Amino acid sequence: MAKNQFLAVAVRAARAAATVMRRYQREGFEVGFKKNRADLVTVADRETERRIRSIIGRAFPQHGVLAEEGGAVSGDGRHRWLIDPIDGTINYVAGFPYYCTSIALEIDGRVEVGVIFDPERRELFTAQRGGGAFLNGRRLRVRTEKVIERAVLVTGYSYSEHSDQARDTMRVVGHVLTCVRAVRRVGAAALDLANVAAGRFDGFWEAGLNPWDVAAGMLLVEEAGGRTSNGDGRRHRFGDPLLVATNRTLHRPLLRLLQTSNPEL
Ligand code: IPD
Ligand code: CA
Repeated sequence: MAKNQFLAVAVRAARAAATVMRRYQREGFEVGFKKNRADLVTVADRETERRIRSIIGRAFPQHGVLAEEGGAVSGDGRHRWLIDPIDGTINYVAGFPYYCTSIALEIDGRVEVGVIFDPERRELFTAQRGGGAFLNGRRLRVRTEKVIERAVLVTGYSYSEHSDQARDTMRVVGHVLTCVRAVRRVGAAALDLANVAAGRFDGFWEAGLNPWDVAAGMLLVEEAGGRTSNGDGRRHRFGDPLLVATNRTLHRPLLRLLQTSNPEL
């Protein structure tokens, strides 16, 4: 099957997800907790995911799925959809307009299609491996910044309750802050990656992310000319402790800053 048929279904599902999100914003909803006080889940997350799964399931009943709220369904062993219905749930709940839906398709263990939709700005990010990255149909390129001192970076923190982990995070952020122009923390890893692809940030790093947070965004960055890796500079595999994504030129310098501030990363 042609890759653009997968892409078309993913786009349809991401747009339908936005309709569900908007409905719950109008109607209101209760907030529940998963692992801890900051790990939120709402009926909007669950219903948005159900809508996406039903669109994808109807189009490709034989495919597997791994999604944040409903977990895994094994399929034909070749195709697997990675879905985050709402990335940035804390922002969604707070009414802070920075969250998105992230949908990716892995074929034979490689992400081939990625879609991220930001319903607040109506920005649709799409990528197919080898076919480029696009924002509302316009080709994306990462930014050409070459000097780390001028870099505008974005990062994320884990929701862990362990204070030693929080201290490690702050040590890394503190060190990077003294060497670059700015470090932002906006609260939706998938959208952060899409914005690296769009040239709005020069780079991103975060530890402890899940496959559904990063699959589509990594493909976007790579297809926009950027680079992604784990903390050693090797190919990032799902489950690796750290993801680093940059405009490529700043990859080594950012890795060096991260390694200097926390050699365990
Ligand atoms: C979270 C966001 C956040 C990142 C967390 C993720 P969620 O996803 O992407 O920016 O720092 O690590 O878990 O829980 O809102 O889907
Ligand atoms: Ca989520």
